[in-house]
Amino acid sequence: MFTHLIDQAAYLGIEDVCLTGGEPLLYPDICEAIEVLFSKGINVSIVSNGYLFQEILYPFLKHKKSHLHLFSMCFSLDGADPETHDSFRQKSGSFFKVLEAIRLCHELNIEVSLKMSIWKKNIENIFEMCVFGLEHVNEIGLIILSPTPNLIKMDLIPTPKQYEEVIWDIRRKIIPLFPKVEIEGICDPDIPIPLCNPFLSGPNIDYRGDITFCCNLSNTTSENNKASLGNLAKTSLDKAFYRHILMCSDFVKYMVKKAPSIWSRSCAYCSRIFGGMNWLKDMDSEWRNVIWNLP
Ligand SMILES: C[S@@+](CC[C@H](N)C(=O)[O-])C[C@H]1O[C@@H](n2cnc3c(N)ncnc32)[C@H](O)[C@@H]1O
Repeated sequence: MFTHLIDQAAYLGIEDVCLTGGEPLLYPDICEAIEVLFSKGINVSIVSNGYLFQEILYPFLKHKKSHLHLFSMCFSLDGADPETHDSFRQKSGSFFKVLEAIRLCHELNIEVSLKMSIWKKNIENIFEMCVFGLEHVNEIGLIILSPTPNLIKMDLIPTPKQYEEVIWDIRRKIIPLFPKVEIEGICDPDIPIPLCNPFLSGPNIDYRGDITFCCNLSNTTSENNKASLGNLAKTSLDKAFYRHILMCSDFVKYMVKKAPSIWSRSCAYCSRIFGGMNWLKDMDSEWRNVIWNLP
């Protein structure tokens, strides 16, 4: 099925594919999947927690030297020290696995970037985190987490107010200093069209073959979900792209208005629109008011 999908993608002229998850390195045929993409000359990027990079990907990539210009890695690093990162990931040793994976990427001249989520334990240290990250890679995405039941129950996600303050600080003090740092999960509320995933990339396809408007809406897919563009069993890729473009156009119409709050341009609010935040209505959390009081 994957080969057939990539044949369709190559025929449509798709040049870039991002493999993310879940954890893509847990997919048993990950190397074969990359091989298929390489054979079509498609650029491959992988977002990973880095835990299995040395064991699974490194031995494969070492022998693929002529294709490595098509390949890039993005690792998640949720703190600038082992204690902070490993406590978010709930797995000791994770921090050093990421650092070793970065080192191995450099050894193979593979482009590498970081996604660093901003959470309760690192929110006071964003500057230090950027300095640390940029010592190792060229680009960093700072992630504003969307609330999930687990993040709220485990008290890992900052309050909306804490996030608002840190976003302001990042815009004012960090981005002017480090142009290779971006904020992810929220778009500038003063720009009418949110230049987020669905506009910059194509549709997302999950392991069940469900096709959605954005990877962040993957788990909201159900029979009559608004973010669904179909399932590969019944929908060809060209049809999915056609639906994706129509949905972008509807989305723009909906979004082109003055955003009443910074959260109107967040992945969390978008998830509410597409039915992925209904659980939050019943939660005792400040997030409920922020996301559900917006028009
Ligand atoms: C979903 S993971 C998938 C790839 C891989 N398993 C990993 O951990 O990097 C991709 C990125 O999403 C971030 N992420 C996790 N939970 C999130 C949330 N609730 N809202 C926004 N981003 C989140 C992770 O920190 C990670 O950098």
